[in-house]
Amino acid sequence: QQKLTGPLPLAGKFALVTAGPTYEAIDPVRFIGNHSSGKMGLALAVELHKLGASVTLVAGPGTPASPEGLNRVNIRSASDMLQACLEYYPAADITIMSAAVADYRPAQPAGQKIKKNSPTLTIDLEKTPDVLATLGAQKRPGQTLVGFALETEHEESYALAKLDKKNLDLIVLNSLNDQGAGFGTNTNKITIFNRNGEKTAFDLKPKTAVASDICAAVLRQMGL
Ligand code: CTP
Ligand code: CA
Repeated sequence: QQKLTGPLPLAGKFALVTAGPTYEAIDPVRFIGNHSSGKMGLALAVELHKLGASVTLVAGPGTPASPEGLNRVNIRSASDMLQACLEYYPAADITIMSAAVADYRPAQPAGQKIKKNSPTLTIDLEKTPDVLATLGAQKRPGQTLVGFALETEHEESYALAKLDKKNLDLIVLNSLNDQGAGFGTNTNKITIFNRNGEKTAFDLKPKTAVASDICAAVLRQMGL
């Protein structure tokens, strides 16, 4: 529970949050994307702001409008997201990567609209940059870095592997096996893991309440 009086716990802190999907161009009119709504990231940005942080939200396509007082950078592709994050990350005390970044993109987006001239079409894909892993690799002492893991099997071991490999402080596991959790919904069910092997499982809740659970875990992690 937050105290009703006294300075806000994140006053003077800067937070960077990513939200929503990325769109990777196939040609000038088509893209590869996913069903992320941006609601979880937006809720996190709003909550961090309420706790006193100044917040930059790097938002993928379709992320709902943000309230006044948040700095917002709209991006499209994984490569745009990386560029925006690299700009803000050095000053960030807290970074939460809730975006559903595309893992692959067309290796050579067509310059013109692709015509339906052939019975089948093959598009070569290449990996996108891993934004979170890039930030993890340049993390300084005092920075808190939080990632998400979306899994459908071996949830715990896959999430812990990402926590370690991407040099995170906390990872938020989203299981698509849980009813009401994940993309498009207004609710989510999460489990948070830290580097000490502590695991905290939460009930299904509105994404706004999930955001305050995640922020409470961040405050605890920071010793605030
Ligand atoms: N992420 C990222 N850049 C990417 C892919 C993922 O920054 N190109 C971030 C996501 O925002 C999330 C975390 O990495 O915070 C984990 O994303 P997830 O899709 O669960 O894992 P991946 O590392 O992409 O591995 P895989 O999809 O194979 O499980
Ligand atoms: Ca992925």
